Amino acid sequence: MTLIWRKQLEIGDEAIDTDHKYLICLINTVELTLRTPQNRELLPTTLAQLEEYTHTHFEREESIMLAIRYSRYDQHKIQHQLLLKELAAIQKKIEAKGDGEFTEEECTAIATLFRHWLLDHLVKEDTQLRAALTGK
Ligand SMILES: [Fe+2]
Repeated sequence: MTLIWRKQLEIGDEAIDTDHKYLICLINTVELTLRTPQNRELLPTTLAQLEEYTHTHFEREESIMLAIRYSRYDQHKIQHQLLLKELAAIQKKIEAKGDGEFTEEECTAIATLFRHWLLDHLVKEDTQLRAALTGK
């Protein structure tokens, strides 16, 4: 269930849009790693990259919001903090498996969690930022 970038997700700020595309790539990489037992030892690295880049991206987005005196800054920042907690919970779920293999159902369940984790925020919160940045 590969995540695919689509034009409707565009925010209108090049740095933010590039970050969002890269986060989609990282989530797809995590899913591929989960589904490929031979790549199992890459899993901690892919998860760490996703976590690290999420922090980088949220900081960038928050500084852009501050720069334009975005009226929903506080609410949006709280959403980012919740997303970091959710990401940590998903990571724990993955790590709890230890060295065990993931079943098809488990992979799909985790991929679904990641899909909602990112896309819900992009659609509900970041598109409001698009309106502030571009007027659209
Ligand atoms: Fe955001």
